[in-house]
Amino acid sequence: MKKSANRTHSWHCMLNAGMMNFVARIRIALAEEIKEGETLKFTFTRNTKSQEGFVGRLHKKLFAYENTCRHIPITLDYGDNHFFDTKGEVLMCQTHGAVYEPDTGLCTRGPCAGSSLHPLKSIEEEGVMWFESD
Ligand code: FES
Repeated sequence: MKKSANRTHSWHCMLNAGMMNFVARIRIALAEEIKEGETLKFTFTRNTKSQEGFVGRLHKKLFAYENTCRHIPITLDYGDNHFFDTKGEVLMCQTHGAVYEPDTGLCTRGPCAGSSLHPLKSIEEEGVMWFESD
C-alpha cells in the first residue's frame, strides 16, 4: 500500500457575518491526490493546541478523523502515515491493534471496542479537500 507524505497547508478563515462564527479552513490536498487505499495527514489547531488529523479514501468514500486512538490518547500511527491493516480493509492502531471501521470510525475490535474515532469535518469543493474547524 502506498503512503503519502505530510503536506504543508494554507489557512483560510471565513467569517459568517450573520452568526459571527469564525470557521477556519485548511486546504488538505487536491481530492485526486487522496488515492484509493491511501491516507494523508494534516495538522490543525484546536484550543491553541496543535492536533493531527488524517483523511483517506476506501471504496471511493473519503473519511477524516483525528489521529488519536480511543484506548490511550496517542496517535494511531507511529508518525509514518500507516493507518490501514495489512489487508487495507480497516484502520488499525499500531500500538495495541484496535480496529476501526473506515466509514464510521467505530472500534470493532481491541481494547476500546465500542468507542469511535473523532470524526473531522472535511469538504470537497471544486476538486480540493478542505478541513473545517468549528
Ligand atoms: S493505544 Fe491504540 S489500541 Fe492501545
